[in-house]
Amino acid sequence: MTTNRAPSKIIPLAFPGIKPGEVEELIANSKVNTYPAETVLCRENAVETIFYMILEGEVEVTKLINQREARVLKTLRAGDFFGEMALIHNAPRAATVTTKSDVVVLELDKESFDRVLQHSSSVAMAMVKEISERLRQNDEMAIEDLRIRASELAQAYQKLAEQDLARHEFLTNVAHELRTPLMAASGYLQILQKGTLQGNQLNEAMDTVSRNIGQIVSLVNDILFLQEIELVLPAFQPVKMSEIAQDIVKKYEKQAAERGTHLKVRNERNIPPVNGDSKSLERALTALVDNAIKFSPRGGDIEINFERQKSQLAVSVEDHGIGIATDQLSRIFDRFYHLEKSGDDLFGGIGLGLAITRQVIEQHHGKLNVESKPGKGSKFTMILPLGSGI
Ligand code: CMP
Repeated sequence: MTTNRAPSKIIPLAFPGIKPGEVEELIANSKVNTYPAETVLCRENAVETIFYMILEGEVEVTKLINQREARVLKTLRAGDFFGEMALIHNAPRAATVTTKSDVVVLELDKESFDRVLQHSSSVAMAMVKEISERLRQNDEMAIEDLRIRASELAQAYQKLAEQDLARHEFLTNVAHELRTPLMAASGYLQILQKGTLQGNQLNEAMDTVSRNIGQIVSLVNDILFLQEIELVLPAFQPVKMSEIAQDIVKKYEKQAAERGTHLKVRNERNIPPVNGDSKSLERALTALVDNAIKFSPRGGDIEINFERQKSQLAVSVEDHGIGIATDQLSRIFDRFYHLEKSGDDLFGGIGLGLAITRQVIEQHHGKLNVESKPGKGSKFTMILPLGSGI
């Protein structure tokens, strides 16, 4: 490749005020070389001793910000120079310089570079000006980078600390939740072992043992279910959510009535099936109904409502219970989050219900929305895609 850009025209662009004699000396001490694109002319941290001035083409100056990533500092063109820092500071290369196109350069070795620098004040001036500007830019980049890294580290640390806290809370809650029914069951078993209970007392003790063991089983099942849906992808089939809702109502009718609530299913006719896993979907809806009953300590109607929205199905569970404080709304789906107390009311549970529901809905490519007014009640809506072609 030959260049149209004569060194004698380019050199004064790089070193304003340079005298004709100095230009000639510079040319006499240098040689012109051509490199294809993607040639590395300076390698960061390498000890190299060539100075370059670009006559034609473009190079990119990059600097490593960690072991894998580099940042582009600048693109240099005809009339720009590079490779001066290592020569002036007697140091390894401060950056990597790679050709971006075919590039024609004027090259000087260290000896010639030193000689030109001593003889020409214009070259020396231009060097000092450019180097201080480049150093400033590199320092700024390093500081900016440190700032980004520090903030990333702080965020990661905060997340880890939060996860750790959640895990710790979870274990404490599990231990707590297990201990209550375990203590009750084992206490009654000890009395049963004595063989002194009879008639109604015997039946009552057996009922208590079985109810408490049932609670332990359902808690352990919830924990295992959450782990399972994270690891195993179920095979999806057409699922009739309206039938699931009716089954849940039948199952919970008695419990609801004991709390003074009344379960109703609305608009469930002619609702097409969704594509999904019926066991998981039943569990997701059950958790919403269970919560609705639990958080309605003063009773009231609980409605499971169906609404077809184009290619989606919205299934909502609405109660008239204690509602959710606005500042808690973003946390209620977190695993292990649970409300223990509201006013004088205490609530059991370890906060896996909504985490299960959200996980199931996400697995079905749906959405789970919540609207709530403290003291007025809550409405949770699962939006599920309707099965294709059914
Ligand atoms: P040197 O350290 O010898 O080799 C790499 C070259 O990249 C360096 O000299 C400069 O010429 C050039 N360089 C380093 N930092 C910058 C920057 N911020 N802007 C432009 N060029 C730079």
